[in-house]
Amino acid sequence: METMNRTATCGALRATDDGKTVILNGWVHRKRDHGGISFINLRDRYGLTQVVVDSDARAELAEITTELRMEFCIAVEGTVRTRPDSMKNPDMPTGEVEVVAISIKILSRSEVPPFTIDEKTNASEELRLKYRYLDLRSQSMQQHIALRSQVAFSIRDFLVKRDFLEIETPTFIKSTPEGARDYLVPSRLYPGQFYALPQSPQLYKQILMVAGFDRYFQIARCYRDEDARGDRQPEFTQVDIEMSFVSRDEVLTLIEGMMGQVFKETMKIDLPTTFRRISWEDALNLYGTDKPDLRFDLEMQDGAFLADLGTFQAFKDALSAGGSIKALVVPGAAATTSRKNIDALEAAAKIYKARGLAWMKVSSTDTDAPVLEGGISKFFDGMATQVCDTLGAKAGDLLLFVADTRHKIACSSLGAVRSKLGKDLGLCEKGTFAFAWIIDFPMFEWDEENEKWETAHHMFTWPQDKYHATLESDPGSVKGELYDLVLNGYELASGSIRIHDPDLQNRIFKIVGFSEEEAKEKFGFLTEAFKYGAPPHGGIAPGLDRLVMLMAGETSIKEVIAFPKNSFAQSLMDSCPSNIDPAQLAELHLKIVKD
Ligand code: AMO
Repeated sequence: METMNRTATCGALRATDDGKTVILNGWVHRKRDHGGISFINLRDRYGLTQVVVDSDARAELAEITTELRMEFCIAVEGTVRTRPDSMKNPDMPTGEVEVVAISIKILSRSEVPPFTIDEKTNASEELRLKYRYLDLRSQSMQQHIALRSQVAFSIRDFLVKRDFLEIETPTFIKSTPEGARDYLVPSRLYPGQFYALPQSPQLYKQILMVAGFDRYFQIARCYRDEDARGDRQPEFTQVDIEMSFVSRDEVLTLIEGMMGQVFKETMKIDLPTTFRRISWEDALNLYGTDKPDLRFDLEMQDGAFLADLGTFQAFKDALSAGGSIKALVVPGAAATTSRKNIDALEAAAKIYKARGLAWMKVSSTDTDAPVLEGGISKFFDGMATQVCDTLGAKAGDLLLFVADTRHKIACSSLGAVRSKLGKDLGLCEKGTFAFAWIIDFPMFEWDEENEKWETAHHMFTWPQDKYHATLESDPGSVKGELYDLVLNGYELASGSIRIHDPDLQNRIFKIVGFSEEEAKEKFGFLTEAFKYGAPPHGGIAPGLDRLVMLMAGETSIKEVIAFPKNSFAQSLMDSCPSNIDPAQLAELHLKIVKD
């Protein structure tokens, strides 16, 4: 085959190349005919170049040009020509030039594509995933995948320069309870036995610390059989990190530096050198969530004073039952918030189990004294000044409240209202990156359904020293040496200082209800390893997909994964999961029982 391999990419040519003869390879992005002249926008990963086939082109060239259709892969030999001023396109990096075709060769033809590249709105997600190779040809997907590669490279560079070793851990491991459901792999050699795919390399990275690899990282694939969401996929990637002989603050500082380098190198953005630290309790009280969006302020306040001040019974009831009243002042939103808007906000609160969303609007009289109107204002007759002064509200503000007998529900449901307002009022500015650490998480959560204590993160977290004496007597008060990194309302990373003492680890197993045998059967290999001089250690795992998603300004990690699953955990391109051959099943000692 006669080669017509490229001498330039479709993003490279400039006015300084005028007169050069070049060969371009790429895909026909668009073709237009104008009075005998054809314009072909030729596309590759690097950009678009306009190719011109003049009206006096040789018959053979004219014939091939007529044949060209969208997404044909072609080679063009031609001469670079500076466009006349009136034809220059300042929006295209190559917009000063065009390539006048001397010859064109069709490298491969394309069927009519099911959607036009770069016009995503025309394509359903189903089509985009089925024809992922076409979807990936779009400029935005090409940029996202390139950004992902650059981010991964920058992370590796940062960590390797700081003595970290990249160590692979197995993807066939022992099934251990880690929070989500495992994906399982049947064993052919051991009938009825299974490997699990790792939900994370957690136990292996801890064992690597015992093995003396004091600074480990891995860009690791993790697998969790849980319902997909915008920021969740059944298989995803973590930047998994573990270090020996470190304090919590050393881990946080490392990650601050790493994020700083990644944003600087890949997006030319300077991040603050340290990120704000907020205790879990403050995050709940101020923002109603442990992953607050800090691109906007809107802090919730304690509205307990309102129970005694007015006559609103729901407030009194919540407080007297040991609950809370949470209040949110939305500056200047009184006039623009309709009844319908408030209903929509209430619906958001109810998802988090609030019974309702109470509201009032602040206006003012000629004397500038505040006046409360609408909603529950009749229960605060004559109290407007006191209400507004205490909450720091002024005329034109909207006041929102959730009262509940359960503090957490009052906080989280008004927090959901805060998040919705952030979006509705356009407070979440694109291109802003608001990082924060959430620290001092509770170590245990009460599992209502099974009536037992569960660990809030995982079972290997070091309880803060001051709680060691009261672990068993008061698990609910124990704080763990745990930290989450949040970015723009998403949990970006999670980590902790770990337990390295087998006795302490056994105490935790006991509190969450593992019998000694069960703990030995499930995690015995870890506690066994800990018997041989385990170093103190800790680590963290930022989600690579979420990081790149946020950097790219997207709201779904599917946009930054080359071949993601759909929301039903299927890959539409290669139709997986799929049935398998009965012979394969037999070999694996499996029988399918359909419900
Ligand atoms: P955790 O389970 O919190 O911690 O996960 C760490 C980070 O991984 C990302 N992540 C996900 N991303 C996409 N899809 C998912 N289904 C998904 N699940 C988690 C998030 C999350 O913050 N071994 C511990 C880490 C440690 O303690 O070092 C762990 O896996 O960004």
